[in-house]
Amino acid sequence: MTALLEVRDLRVTFRTADGPARAVDGVSFALAAGETLALVGESGSGKTVTALALLRLLAEPPADVDPASRVLFEGRDVLQLDGEALRRVRGAGMAMVFQEPMTSLNPVLSIGLQITETVQAHERVTRRGARDRAADMLALVGLPDPRAALGRYPHELSGGMRQRVLLAMALVCRPRVLIADEPTTALDVTVQAQILELLAELRERLGMAMLLITHNLGIAAGIADRIAVMYGGQLVETASRQTLFREPRHPYTLGLLRAAPRLDGPAAPTPAIPGAVPPATAWPTGCRFRPRCPHAWARCETAPPLLEAATAQQARCWLVEQPGGAPA
Ligand SMILES: Nc1ncnc2c1ncn2[C@@H]1O[C@H](COP(=O)(O)OP(=O)(O)O)[C@@H](O)[C@H]1O
Ligand SMILES: [Mg+2]
Repeated sequence: MTALLEVRDLRVTFRTADGPARAVDGVSFALAAGETLALVGESGSGKTVTALALLRLLAEPPADVDPASRVLFEGRDVLQLDGEALRRVRGAGMAMVFQEPMTSLNPVLSIGLQITETVQAHERVTRRGARDRAADMLALVGLPDPRAALGRYPHELSGGMRQRVLLAMALVCRPRVLIADEPTTALDVTVQAQILELLAELRERLGMAMLLITHNLGIAAGIADRIAVMYGGQLVETASRQTLFREPRHPYTLGLLRAAPRLDGPAAPTPAIPGAVPPATAWPTGCRFRPRCPHAWARCETAPPLLEAATAQQARCWLVEQPGGAPA
């Protein structure tokens, strides 16, 4: 099986006053056509920087993408593209929805204008044709009265409706990969569930692959085929959704599982992982999770690589090599 998107050893460093911030530090993964991969981790783990790098949306400088990194979309390295070729990838190849619908929409332009401009930026199409496509897309994402919605402005819509508009904008060029960065974080729980359901439905109808970024494992549980857990700028565990929930092999994954708020239940206070993600300028030596890990021992002073824990499951933890090494 050839991957639609293959990321190889992605490294992004920011130049900061505190020294180099190694925000993304050797991330590799592949996404097959039609597959949904969830990238999960606490705030500050490098998820957004990863997503931005895939579409070449980071300002360089201050960002510095390692020249050895590869982002292969349909076999071509996005990191080597520019001009027209890059624009094509961003339209019909990979599209992105961001976390905050209000800051991603232009407040002084009508919804219709913003979507038609997106279409026209990527495809040769008449203004009229672009408007029709925009209305069709708004209907697809469930906006009531899509024709009328074309004339409305972002502030006239609710948060949930704005997120639907952003989805319409991302989908209007029929991308093969949708990158959704915390697409529901700004929304209340009911609307969150509606948007997630919509994402799952659109993915089926449009046959898209999806990279879903979230800090909430509960969200990944409902929609992902595979899950990649990120901590300290690195992937620390990857597995199928079923395996990850049934048999997590990294103590960080286990901590996230215990802290995950359930979408379908009461918001019970759940134990969080003690401590916080360190700044990217100061990753701990050895295992980066070591200072927060309840299982840390001498061996963790040496950084573990991603180890094969089971079939199609990897964990960056020495416990994988211990007999009976699953964290309790
Ligand atoms: N423009 C920037 N300059 C310096 N550091 C940055 C910049 N953007 C992100 N970072 C740092 O990179 C790390 C990862 O950030 P980010 O990818 O936004 O995390 P996440 O999306 O997982 O919350 C953080 O330590 C963050 O402070
Ligand atoms: Mg983020």
